[in-house]
Amino acid sequence: MSTVQQEISRRRTFAIISHPDAGKTTITEKVLLYGNALQTAGTVKGKKSGQHAKSDWMEMEKERGISVTTSVMQFPYADNLVNLLDTPGHEDFSEDTYRTLTAVDSCLMVIDAAKGVEDRTRKLMEVTRLRDTPIITFMNKLDRDIRDPMELLDEVETELNIACAPVTWPIGCGKQFKGVYHIHRDETILYQSGQGHTIQDVRIIKGLDNPELDEAVGNGLAAEFRDELELVMGASNEFDQELFLAGEITPVFFGTALGNFGVDHMLDGLVAWAPEPQGRETDSGAVEATDPKFSGFVFKIQANMDPKHRDRIAFCRIVSGKYEKGMKMRHTRIGKDVRISDALTFLAGDRALLEEAYAGDIIGLHNHGSIRIGDTFSSGEDYRFTGIPNFAPELFKRIRLKDPLKQKQLQKGLIQLSEEGAVQVFRPLINNDLIVGAVGVLQFDVVVARLKAEYNVDAIYEHVSVATARWVYSKDAKKLDEFQRKAEQNLALDGGDNLTYIAPTMVNLQLAQERYPDIEFTTTREH
Ligand code: G4P
Repeated sequence: MSTVQQEISRRRTFAIISHPDAGKTTITEKVLLYGNALQTAGTVKGKKSGQHAKSDWMEMEKERGISVTTSVMQFPYADNLVNLLDTPGHEDFSEDTYRTLTAVDSCLMVIDAAKGVEDRTRKLMEVTRLRDTPIITFMNKLDRDIRDPMELLDEVETELNIACAPVTWPIGCGKQFKGVYHIHRDETILYQSGQGHTIQDVRIIKGLDNPELDEAVGNGLAAEFRDELELVMGASNEFDQELFLAGEITPVFFGTALGNFGVDHMLDGLVAWAPEPQGRETDSGAVEATDPKFSGFVFKIQANMDPKHRDRIAFCRIVSGKYEKGMKMRHTRIGKDVRISDALTFLAGDRALLEEAYAGDIIGLHNHGSIRIGDTFSSGEDYRFTGIPNFAPELFKRIRLKDPLKQKQLQKGLIQLSEEGAVQVFRPLINNDLIVGAVGVLQFDVVVARLKAEYNVDAIYEHVSVATARWVYSKDAKKLDEFQRKAEQNLALDGGDNLTYIAPTMVNLQLAQERYPDIEFTTTREH
């Protein structure tokens, strides 16, 4: 195997999907602790303790105690190199999350075992189903009284339509939580409370029938557990690598992120089973990760991650080959070759200059305005990666300046923020309005705060009578022309100059769709 292939095959790139409060941040901390990326876990985010994530970069995030941005963390685990892409937990930033999910090869689904499958998890799972992304499941908060584990698996299977294969099984829960039995290793790993900030020295008991187990957890509980496990083994699925890779079965782990127990079992499963970096589709065929030529796509742009560096960073997932400092790449949308000598890597939120990176890694490219979400970088070929979506916004406001002299700055700011995917902007064909479209309400506040901080413009919102927007296309240029003339009062250009239909009501949209059958109205737009 060549070095490039070796480097690729040891990489794993994943994201965590969960409902807010299920424990994503806490798991991230523990995962980084194993990766030695953080000395003592507990610095990713402390909502109430006043500590803030290294990745939290906006005042607003701190005030609200939510992480609105996506960040990338790379850490070693065993012989592997793991890239964890953080996704904003808040629903209002789901667009970012969706796009981040196009840049990973597997996902960890974290479920609060006291609550079971929750709304946001359901939605995110739907997104991962589009690409059949392999899913690993972690049932969290076993140190609390949880629901019946068998019932939890049932719920995952019926609600999320994925079979469950338990890899570990809990012995008790809450105050009675004794540890887990690792079905594949045939060993019981005992839990000690109060060890959450360290990598624990755990006691392991080999074999289910080992009398040490009775002694350790108590006779009654051990016997009960053996019976329960027999039932579980009879009723549940065995892990199957192929079905896992096809996204049809999920290995399930139990533990407590806060108690740092079970997270390592999950990580062992991740590096053993999760796929190495996978190729991606382009508009002219698939690119394999093992293709020696460099390629990658931008799934996220973020401004001012570090207030000390007033710049914008484009996050590029390397799809194939190797990045080397100073190399030339083709920016395929504008058809230009660029030399990149200062790409960044993200070690647990800190930025470091990068010498080399391989397929599966995320590199940060300094963006001075020429890079947009969805852009492809290649080794000279002119293809573009597909499948990085924009979603039609559902909320709209007209944005206006307090000081009318800064119209240019406002427009520039909005277009840049829309390229980043922070918000969408629409400019009607018939007037000079600027309409901001968002998927969630919080985006509006973020935009005004960032316009002030980064572009020095004071903007306010006004009501606008827009209910929904659709991107419009037609194969027939003449029909599109005619449509453009007749429907002009409802047409606008988005931040990337794509034609959109902005409808005052849903009924209006419906009528337009009936009236113009040759025009395609879409709710997602691929970059
Ligand atoms: P999120 O990123 O998915 O939103 O969840 P986060 O990790 O912030 O966890 C949400 C809350 O659940 C936090 O408590 C966290 O300490 C707690 N938690 C996470 N894992 C476990 C676990 O295994 N057991 C128990 N008992 N609690 C867990 P908080 O009080 O809301 O916030 P904080 O002040 O601890 O940050």
